[in-house]
Amino acid sequence: MLTPMSDLNCIILAAGKGTRMKSDMPKVLHALGGWPMIRHVVKSCEALEPAQITVVIAPGMGDVAKEVAPHATSVQEKQLGSGDAARAGLKGLKDPKGKILILAGDVPLISVDTLQALVEEAETGMSVLGFTPMDPTGYGRLITDDDLFVTEIIEERDASAGQKNIALCNAGAYCIDAKLLPNLLDKLSNSNAQKEFYLTDIVSLAAKSGIKCAYIEAPIYETIGINSRSQLAEAEGELQNYLRAKAMFEGASLLDPMTTYFAMDTKLGQDVIIEPGVFFGPGVVIGDKVTIHAYSYLEGVTVERGASIGPFARIRPHSHIGEDVSIGNFIEVNRSTLKAGAKSKHLSYLGDAVIGEKANIGAGTVIANYDGFDKLSTEVGKDAFVGSNSTLIAPVKIGDGAYVGAASAITEDVPAGSLALARARTIIRDGWAALRNKEKTKTKKAG
Ligand code: UD1
Ligand code: MG
Repeated sequence: MLTPMSDLNCIILAAGKGTRMKSDMPKVLHALGGWPMIRHVVKSCEALEPAQITVVIAPGMGDVAKEVAPHATSVQEKQLGSGDAARAGLKGLKDPKGKILILAGDVPLISVDTLQALVEEAETGMSVLGFTPMDPTGYGRLITDDDLFVTEIIEERDASAGQKNIALCNAGAYCIDAKLLPNLLDKLSNSNAQKEFYLTDIVSLAAKSGIKCAYIEAPIYETIGINSRSQLAEAEGELQNYLRAKAMFEGASLLDPMTTYFAMDTKLGQDVIIEPGVFFGPGVVIGDKVTIHAYSYLEGVTVERGASIGPFARIRPHSHIGEDVSIGNFIEVNRSTLKAGAKSKHLSYLGDAVIGEKANIGAGTVIANYDGFDKLSTEVGKDAFVGSNSTLIAPVKIGDGAYVGAASAITEDVPAGSLALARARTIIRDGWAALRNKEKTKTKKAG
């Protein structure tokens, strides 16, 4: 448990154009582990319990403001660089006391422990987060003095060949005494390769006025900066490896971990078995002893103890799968509840439905829940039996213990304990084939 940092204020920079993503969507809304990138940064900041958080956005980024609410946003009118963005952020903070932590919305995986260490390191006045990536191309380099204080951050584009050989890079996270920041930001200039106000220049400005900037190093996977789709994929890979390890540590068996994809908020019970190729979207809670068979896709669902899902099942949001429910192959469940012990094992669509305890949904059953305008609901009672290849045309109720004959199209409520048949009768004509063949041969000969 962390001690709340009530003398800490956070600025998250997220107004950048994100040009390298080649996207209409703001960069920080691209998903990572099923969450928009910015949510990762906001959650880590929240864990520090700072006095306030403001997120710097560009005009027109209302969706980002919505995502970070109830935290404040500060608008940077023109994208003149990270230093200018920090100025906008500073304006958005109300009477900041203590320290200011400045983070980039595009470096989403920094752990809370690392942030806390960075804040503690700023006792000298200022601290910056470093890392040593395999390939430093594109990152700013940390220039240090003999006492290992940072004296300057040089951006790749402004670096000499010699400076480009420096392995220690800038992760884009800084913590600074609130009294020092305004003056340093005022002094920034844009005389550099990109004609931008670089936030990184506050380090050399501070060093010149005798302020020591300490640094700490974080593991590479925490510090991946996301400027392009390939860096997004790299970060996703690192995050998934972490989530897989966590799932196994907590008592789930992943038969082929590299093919299991989790969302940040996936919750797994103990003795869960996950076969290859399973994808968890946001909002999934899995109880103890659940098996998820190969190639299933789940989002927005709670699955209770002992249930079995798939192979090849798709469970869509607002669904609830009860204890010991059995969902088989090629089943789609959408906004539906299956109560304890219910079964739907082959080739069905269950939409806007409540399926009662121990009810059996036969192969190929389809719930017709949409009339072109509205989504309509269906109830199948406890112990009811729906025969194969039936269509339940919503809104409709099948009573407790009722039977629906196979291949029925049900448009009316079926009372408890009754049988509903809604298909043409089978007609048998004895000897029909022989008679037909005789007729055919006759006409052929005549013709
Ligand atoms: C930045 C750092 C670089 C560091 C890298 C780490 C600068 C000048 N360089 O480079 O030293 O190694 O991050 O990932 O800061 N932003 C705004 N408004 C702007 C420009 C940027 O809000 O006008 C925000 C972006 O949304 C982003 C952050 O500032 O969250 C950094 O900007 P970005 O363009 O991604 O800088 P990098 O090239 O990644
Ligand atoms: Mg960046």
